[in-house]
Amino acid sequence: MSAHILVFDSGLGGTTVLEHIQRALPDAQFSYFMDNAYLPYGKQSQQTIINRLSALLEFIAVNQLAVDIIVIACNTASTAALSAVRKLTDIPIVGVVPAIKPATLVTQTKHIALLATPATIQSRYIQQLINEYAANVTVHLYASVELVTIAEQAYITKQLDQKRLAAELNELAIHPSVDVLVLGCTHFPILAEGINSYFNKTVVLLDSGAAIANRVMALLAEQKVSFTDKKKPLHYYATASICIDKQPVKLVTLIDLTQNEKS
Ligand code: SIN
Repeated sequence: MSAHILVFDSGLGGTTVLEHIQRALPDAQFSYFMDNAYLPYGKQSQQTIINRLSALLEFIAVNQLAVDIIVIACNTASTAALSAVRKLTDIPIVGVVPAIKPATLVTQTKHIALLATPATIQSRYIQQLINEYAANVTVHLYASVELVTIAEQAYITKQLDQKRLAAELNELAIHPSVDVLVLGCTHFPILAEGINSYFNKTVVLLDSGAAIANRVMALLAEQKVSFTDKKKPLHYYATASICIDKQPVKLVTLIDLTQNEKS
């Protein structure tokens, strides 16, 4: 079988990462798993997210999905659960790191902004990242759940609600000196065109899609995984009912073994 990469997200945002990996590895086999019953993860507790990802590992094992790499294409989940879930499996797991370090190399004004979910913004990991890589610049932090909802809607309807996007960006009041905006949620590249137009293209937008694709390629090369066999079509899974391109996605259940309640 060809290398099998499973891309996971709370919703449709991870498709922005999936596209980067598909471009880099056109012969690999892909599954896309969205835990949209618990969307947005930005509103979930850290323990709930760890439980959901543990349940994903169980789902992969029980269904014998033969996955070579799991990509957690969700900043909130990567920040909250990556180190915990890596301890539970031998399958290599790649997470998302917001492009704060690259942003410090691009900024002219020395003011960069991180736009992410509240859970990501409030995490200790982000503070460590800033302390380690962005000591020489001012990092402005902006949290939004509304942008996740706007991105989901834009993906499904193939139409961006520019007014709603502008209202949210007005609300966030991004500092005028900011010249690089780090998209610290994989949903936000879906909004890139609209964000560019809001800022009249005066702000550089950076996401982590290309860096993740490079990491996946490097890991597959290390594992010497083959690309020889005929690959199957992209397979979608969802935990709440959803249609993509008018096709219903296969509905599955993640069994929370800890029986924790949704927060
Ligand atoms: C969310 O589910 O709240 C957004 C996912 C992300 O942080 O990438």
